[in-house]
Amino acid sequence: MRAGRAKVAVMGAGATGAATAHWIAAKEIADIALIDVAEGLAKGKALDLYEAMPIEDLDVRVEGGGDYRLAEGADVVVITAGVGRKPGQSRDDLLRVNYEIVASVARQAVERAPDAVYIVLTNPVDVLTYAVQKTTGLPYGRVFGQAGVLDSTRFRTFVAEAAGVSVEDVFAFVMGGHGDDMVPLVRYSTIGGLPLEKFLDRDTIDRIVARTRGGGGEIVSLLQTGSAFYAPGAAIAAMVEAVLRDKRRVIPVVAHLDGEYGERDIYVGVPALVGRNGVERVLEVDFTPEEAAAFRRSVASVRGPLESLGIAGGSGR
Ligand code: LAC
Repeated sequence: MRAGRAKVAVMGAGATGAATAHWIAAKEIADIALIDVAEGLAKGKALDLYEAMPIEDLDVRVEGGGDYRLAEGADVVVITAGVGRKPGQSRDDLLRVNYEIVASVARQAVERAPDAVYIVLTNPVDVLTYAVQKTTGLPYGRVFGQAGVLDSTRFRTFVAEAAGVSVEDVFAFVMGGHGDDMVPLVRYSTIGGLPLEKFLDRDTIDRIVARTRGGGGEIVSLLQTGSAFYAPGAAIAAMVEAVLRDKRRVIPVVAHLDGEYGERDIYVGVPALVGRNGVERVLEVDFTPEEAAAFRRSVASVRGPLESLGIAGGSGR
């Protein structure tokens, strides 16, 4: 890392990009460059956020604009650019349009920030994370995506509320693709280290699993004009912090598989060790046959779009 403060370039100044910048600033993690083709939007949101820093005693520089030169020297590049989900739309409906946007952003960003770690948020995230790796040619570990931290925080929220316990004591994680067939791993989720079943009956747990899977869609249908941004932004900020502070966190991220879980040539949500170099290790969970089947289904739903974009071929298995 350079001398001085770390820097994060956030691509896309929409609701999610702005929320990401907000959480990063609020935790004083790094200086921020907010970049968008809508130059005034990026400049305006950046300046507004920058002007809030004295109130919060935060020494964070926030710049915004349309010029990719702002990304120069970034230690982490976050890609949120793209169009969001509309009511009734699936994440995959966004595939082609967001593929073009994300590939173009990644191509330009990597010229300015070739040594950065890249974190992708744009949906469909599993597919577009691979698109960013292919476009930039960066090592697999330096490109990963956000899905599991968001899906897990939703799961944790609902568990804590139903059990009447602190969110601090709920550990839960969700893996697989960031779609309706994501895989919340109830067996590995705990409250204060105890199984969920000590606190919640089976029906409640099943309802929570279903609500977690539909968590993104629930927000879309409430907002009508956009998709979730507070929780996705907070999830990204936690991942950025894991990288910049070399925390070596074990969190679910969209990572490249090369034989783990019997899968190759794909990016999908799995637990991984995340530190200064990005994804340093993919961790394998011991599945029950049902969990393994659910994970395979989820992987299959990521392979289809990858193949239609020509990013990856074959079954990879
Ligand atoms: C969500 C969308 C952003 O899960 O995928 O909220």
